[in-house]
Amino acid sequence: MTDTGSMISHLECTYCDMTFSANEIHKLCPEDDCGKVLFPRYEIDRSKSQKIIKDLKNRHPNMWRYKEFMPVRDDKNIVSLGEGFTPILKCERLSYDLGANIILKDESLNPTSSFKARGLSSAVSKAKELGINKFSIPSAGNAGGALAAYCARAGAEAYVFMPKDAPLANKTETIFHGADIELIDGYINDAGARSLEVSKQKNLFDVSTLKEPYRVEGKKTMGYEIAEQLNWDLPDNIIYPTGGGTGIIGIWKAFQELKEIGVLNSKLPRMICVQAEGCSPVVDAYIEGKRHAELFKSPKTIAAGMRVPIAVGDYLIIDAINESEGTAVKIDDKSMVDGVKKLSALEGIFCAPEGGSLYAATKKLIDSKFISSRESVLLLNTGSGFKYLDGLSEQIKIN
Ligand SMILES: Cc1ncc(COP(=O)(O)O)c(C=O)c1O
Repeated sequence: MTDTGSMISHLECTYCDMTFSANEIHKLCPEDDCGKVLFPRYEIDRSKSQKIIKDLKNRHPNMWRYKEFMPVRDDKNIVSLGEGFTPILKCERLSYDLGANIILKDESLNPTSSFKARGLSSAVSKAKELGINKFSIPSAGNAGGALAAYCARAGAEAYVFMPKDAPLANKTETIFHGADIELIDGYINDAGARSLEVSKQKNLFDVSTLKEPYRVEGKKTMGYEIAEQLNWDLPDNIIYPTGGGTGIIGIWKAFQELKEIGVLNSKLPRMICVQAEGCSPVVDAYIEGKRHAELFKSPKTIAAGMRVPIAVGDYLIIDAINESEGTAVKIDDKSMVDGVKKLSALEGIFCAPEGGSLYAATKKLIDSKFISSRESVLLLNTGSGFKYLDGLSEQIKIN
């Protein structure tokens, strides 16, 4: 065994605080009447951690550079395609256009062209360590493609359940990676029910968003990177396109850990959640002052990753918004596509519609004076426009 030096100590329920072993297979909290999200917890040794942080510059530019703060104990279990350490770009033309200091973290440059690579690299690696090699996943698109890729790399089996209107690129990549795909006549929650059913029949490990504890650890590395790449001086605002919420939840978890290590030079950012007008369960719950969202009926949006009518981690998204004094906004599909045009034409970033929503969200928040012209705003572009050519090409005229 080559020890990663992981400081993982146990799993903890984010709802009832019960603790569980990190050396056993767990999914949601098994306590009666709980069934909520489990988080890996670390025994963070401050001085050792600060030394690791100081030496990071000598490490490979991928998300496993933070391996002591990740759950995998043995190096040989890490299944990696080089995910992470995506650039943070200064956006001068967007800053001028919008009237605030805009920077953008471009997750479209990950393997499989979206931030989903991080979570699936982490989940497949930890599952491998626990002896698992057959997986299932319900997916709006990008997560299914990423699971298929990491399973190919690990020599593991993947079963992917996608709504039949998922982007063509996601269906195609999943099949090329050798995964089994079933198209569902319904939404992601219907795909979730089918994934669970088949996983019971075939003894598969279901890695649905936040229903196992380790995908969020991969997403968390976005927060570590934002801090490291900005010299431990965080931006005033982070704007995030939200579906199941692992991204925004993971980034907020990272900031709590970095605060505990004691390396941050600034206060924490305001976390801003963006959803589609055609599917906004979390934004609606936040506006109504609730901690839990209701099922959003008949969700409809071009941003497949935001077509999530109910999220098991709704309370964690809302907690992150409230604890950070952030906010939540919804954006219509036309504005998302206009946002893709803006990011593409002003900065050369051909983003996914999810990323496009960030332009309109920022504009709304500047217009309402929630964000002032002096503040810094980090837009988190979660994926590539190349994965949405079917949806995006319908919005323009090509001769
Ligand atoms: C491109 C893209 N952006 C955003 C999301 C939403 O992700 P999260 O689960 O972190 O809210 C997804 C999820 O599928 C996605 O594919």
